[in-house]
Amino acid sequence: MTPTFKFLIVLSSLACIANAQQKVFDVRTFGAKQNADISQALLSAWKEACASPTPSTVLIPKGTWSLKQAKLIGPNKAPVELRVEGILKAPLDPTQMPNKEGEWVTINYLDNFTLSGGGVFDGQGHEAWKRNDCHKNKNCVKLPLNLSFNFITNSTIRDVTTKDSKNFHVNVIGCYNVTFLRFTVSAPGDSPNTDGLHIARSKNCFV
Ligand SMILES: *[C@@H]1O[C@H](CO)[C@@H](O)[C@H](O)[C@H]1NC(C)=O
Ligand SMILES: *[C@@H]1O[C@H](CO)[C@@H](O)[C@H](O)[C@H]1NC(C)=O
Ligand SMILES: *[C@@H]1O[C@H](CO)[C@@H](O)[C@H](O)[C@H]1NC(C)=O
Ligand SMILES: *[C@@H]1O[C@H](CO)[C@@H](O)[C@H](O)[C@H]1NC(C)=O
Repeated sequence: MTPTFKFLIVLSSLACIANAQQKVFDVRTFGAKQNADISQALLSAWKEACASPTPSTVLIPKGTWSLKQAKLIGPNKAPVELRVEGILKAPLDPTQMPNKEGEWVTINYLDNFTLSGGGVFDGQGHEAWKRNDCHKNKNCVKLPLNLSFNFITNSTIRDVTTKDSKNFHVNVIGCYNVTFLRFTVSAPGDSPNTDGLHIARSKNCFV
């Protein structure tokens, strides 16, 4: 074997290793504790993942986690995955959300994003529905909790469940080439808004 040839083999095996090594940012290493608010830990992990020049995963492992609110914004430098294996619980009382006008979980401006993991986004709507009168009062205070994906491209949302969102379940605005696979929306039939997935200004969204 010529030295050049050997060099090429080394190079290509290095490339393989780099591909196989998805960087994992586990929220626990950023201070997340079960049954405590993980907003800050998730945001810190998210920022590192978006800044990573190689593919990365933000992991929320199995278990039950409280999440007051999350705004996960791009752009991302390389493919990024949010792997939710556990159960994420919204605050029971919507006034506990830092930004009361915002949504519970917002995911914006990403290319090559994957949401996966088999976990559950539990909006804990049952308490809020009791206090809210939007079904009969037009000027009611809206319950702002929902999950929204805006301006995301070439992405996949799979194997996640949203449960008992306090209002609309899922909003999708301005996305391009986003595939929803095995995405489950569950809520009792008597909840105020039973719309599962709102999609607006989007192209090539496969549900
Ligand atoms: C997304 O993937 C495409 C095709 O592989 C690539 O051209 C683009 O740079 C990627 N963008 C990001 C932000 O990862
Ligand atoms: C859900 O999110 C959308 C924007 O993505 C927002 O317009 C809507 O008001 C939110 N739902 C509620 C009840 O606030
Ligand atoms: C999406 O993927 C296509 C095909 O790989 C690529 O050309 C494009 O740059 C990607 N990003 C956007 C924002 O469309
Ligand atoms: C759609 O996104 C997938 C990755 O999720 C990519 O492989 C494919 O090339 C994209 N298609 C277009 C038309 O951008």
